[in-house]
Amino acid sequence: MTLHPVLFVGAGPGAPDLLTLKAARALAEAEVILHDRLASDAILALAGPQARLVDVGKEGFGPSAAQADINERLVAFAAAGLRVVRLKAGDPTVFGRLDEELEAITAAGLGYQIVPGITAASAAVASLGQSLTRRGRNASVRFLTGHDMQGFADHDWRALARPGEVAAIYMGKRAARFVQGRLLMFGADPATPVTAVENASRPDQRIVATSLAALPATLAEAALSGPAVILFGLAPRAAQAAVRTLAAEGAF
Ligand SMILES: C[S@@+](CC[C@H](N)C(=O)[O-])C[C@H]1O[C@@H](n2cnc3c(N)ncnc32)[C@H](O)[C@@H]1O
Repeated sequence: MTLHPVLFVGAGPGAPDLLTLKAARALAEAEVILHDRLASDAILALAGPQARLVDVGKEGFGPSAAQADINERLVAFAAAGLRVVRLKAGDPTVFGRLDEELEAITAAGLGYQIVPGITAASAAVASLGQSLTRRGRNASVRFLTGHDMQGFADHDWRALARPGEVAAIYMGKRAARFVQGRLLMFGADPATPVTAVENASRPDQRIVATSLAALPATLAEAALSGPAVILFGLAPRAAQAAVRTLAAEGAF
């Protein structure tokens, strides 16, 4: 029996035309596709007629039993000689619990390949007409998670509070007040721009621009129900230009 490597495929942020050609080919050829809750219908529609779709989605960081179950199923399908795709939202290497699944695959003596995808931060920043890094402003960018297995995640808030810093905060909706509190405590400017992008790249994409001072209130009012990335330190380019014009006209 021929054993095929398990393909860990990045589904990108949701728009099918942001999928790589390699990912589309893997979906077309797969016999089993284990996918997350965030996999969009438009992308799952690229699966071939022979493919069995298995939804292994869980909300945020679910219980570890669910992860063990996913590992077991991956191994079982691949060991049976099936072409298995493990489809993960965005890029599989970003907050995707990839290592846990790779370790299960290698422990079972099976092979794997990683097919990268466009991570949510890249799609979100593109929707603002902005850049994650900028000469003279920020020479690094951080990808943070709002929460980890212990609860709200701690980070180097002092470093992030410096002027010009940029971070993409994943799974940050519920942690917004915590993040705001920590950043203000470490001296961040309350007027720092912050923008939440919900459903980046999808037809129902929403962009909610605010400031660090108003972040929790703005997010509560916006009642975002889909996946969202919070871009700390960035405003939509058009909004930023309007503020500069008003300031130049002496409006404030
Ligand atoms: C478990 S993480 C997976 C991240 C994924 N591996 C990636 O590279 O984008 C899930 C989080 O990704 C973010 N996310 C994923 N897809 C998104 C989208 N289309 N728009 C905005 N945020 C998204 C949200 O912060 C969501 O809570």
